[in-house]
Amino acid sequence: MSTVNITIDGKKLQVEQGITILEAARQASIKIPTLCFLKDINEIGACRMCLVEIKGARALQASCVYPVAEGLEIYTQSPAVREARKVTLELILSNHDKKCLTCVRSKNCELQSLAEELNIKDIRFEGASTNLPLDDFSPSIVRDPNKCVLCRRCVSMCKNIQTVSVISATERGFKSAISCAFDRSLEEVPCTMCGQCISVCPVGALREKDDTEKVWSALANQELHVVVQTAPAVRVA
Ligand code: FES
Repeated sequence: MSTVNITIDGKKLQVEQGITILEAARQASIKIPTLCFLKDINEIGACRMCLVEIKGARALQASCVYPVAEGLEIYTQSPAVREARKVTLELILSNHDKKCLTCVRSKNCELQSLAEELNIKDIRFEGASTNLPLDDFSPSIVRDPNKCVLCRRCVSMCKNIQTVSVISATERGFKSAISCAFDRSLEEVPCTMCGQCISVCPVGALREKDDTEKVWSALANQELHVVVQTAPAVRVA
């Protein structure tokens, strides 16, 4: 195994050649915040939360996709890095449906944790916001595009791991969204309802449908004859 010598925050490290700065930092227990990164599933450098400063480089670099090289001197907590991460997060939050009190992922949300970690108290940037309809037609998955942070973890999971490919990134710039082809609902595409997209979503943009009340009231009214349990939620057949 060939190795290279690098320095992260003054700590001298000998690491395997070819790994990323993020991996090297994690091996040395140096924390770098991430949002879109999901090891072996989504390593695309989309969110820029993991920016670091590299001595001699012209710009900050996304550590989750930047490979280590001999002699790199990396700073993970310099003022420029902290400011860039904070502004990036504020921009993501400026177009996020912030109904945290009623969100199913509250207190288990990576965006919320990052906001706390980066000490974000107000959203400085207000402006246009995405206002797309809720996709609530699938029997087991609810998709809320207004909470989506465009990390594309669900897209990678659906396409590369589950090999189903029913969701993808569409449009560009401010209109970017994760949706099904031709803006269909999950109900209208060959979604297998495996629920893996929910398990990788860092926020509440994808969640299990809670039909419990509907099922119980139908049972009480004797409208249901068979109830079939399917992952990840209850499906009525
Ligand atoms: Fe590196 Fe998103 S975690 S760019």
